[in-house]
Amino acid sequence: MPVYKFITVNKDSFFAVWKVDESEDDLWIGIQLTDHCQTRFNGMKSELHRRAFLSIRHLLALYGYEDTDLYYNEFGKPHLKDGNYISITHSHHFTAIIISKTEEVGIDIEKNREKILRIAHKFTPFEEYRTLANTEAIIRKLTIVWGAKESLYKIYGQQGISFLHHINVADFSFDQNQTTAEILYHGDVSHYDVHFLEFEGFTLVYAIKK
Ligand SMILES: CC(C)(COP(=O)(O)OP(=O)(O)OC[C@H]1O[C@@H](n2cnc3c(N)ncnc32)[C@H](O)[C@@H]1OP(=O)(O)O)[C@@H](O)C(=O)NCCC(=O)NCCS
Repeated sequence: MPVYKFITVNKDSFFAVWKVDESEDDLWIGIQLTDHCQTRFNGMKSELHRRAFLSIRHLLALYGYEDTDLYYNEFGKPHLKDGNYISITHSHHFTAIIISKTEEVGIDIEKNREKILRIAHKFTPFEEYRTLANTEAIIRKLTIVWGAKESLYKIYGQQGISFLHHINVADFSFDQNQTTAEILYHGDVSHYDVHFLEFEGFTLVYAIKK
């Protein structure tokens, strides 16, 4: 069972990462999907996506949940029927979930890619990064900021929010492994703690609403 990381955030919140290297057949073992998820699964063209989707159900099982314990709202946001908070992410062969009994949480995994340099101006004031030592450091930092904004977006759960205009991530150094962020949207202000870790060319970010 390739649980890659299994981390306790605090007494009420946990996350786990799966490295997907099993076959689709192996990942089906012990898994039963709801009709809703089976229909989604049947429509997935990419085998890696299907394997990632199944691996998420194994991560749920680590915390005693089955697919029937999960439902999605009309925007695709996942919820747990027992009222605990959950967020889900997949990127290539890594998948992760975060669960909290008390706090709203969001999680995102991204592969570090040069492409982010071209789209950075769409989601963050790019001038802030010019002082960084080299291109690799800029890519790392932008990927963390992107992951933070995706995580916050997943918590907020409202469409129409702009990464550039409504979500601010406070500056941070790599060795801090954490920062803070806020959403300012239509007069509403909310604050978040953000944590990040990097492994095998990927960046995982999770956020907890304060
Ligand atoms: C929905 C979104 C957050 C998903 O993120 P992603 O990086 O594409 O994909 P991830 O694998 O990390 O996350 C996918 C999971 O997010 C969850 N999700 C989907 N929609 C969601 C929503 N509206 N709110 C919260 N979570 C959501 C689902 O659990 C989904 O996985 P599942 O359906 O297999 O369970 C993303 O596609 C999105 O819409 N981002 C905002 C777009 C945007 O404003 N971009 C600004 C560009 S400058």
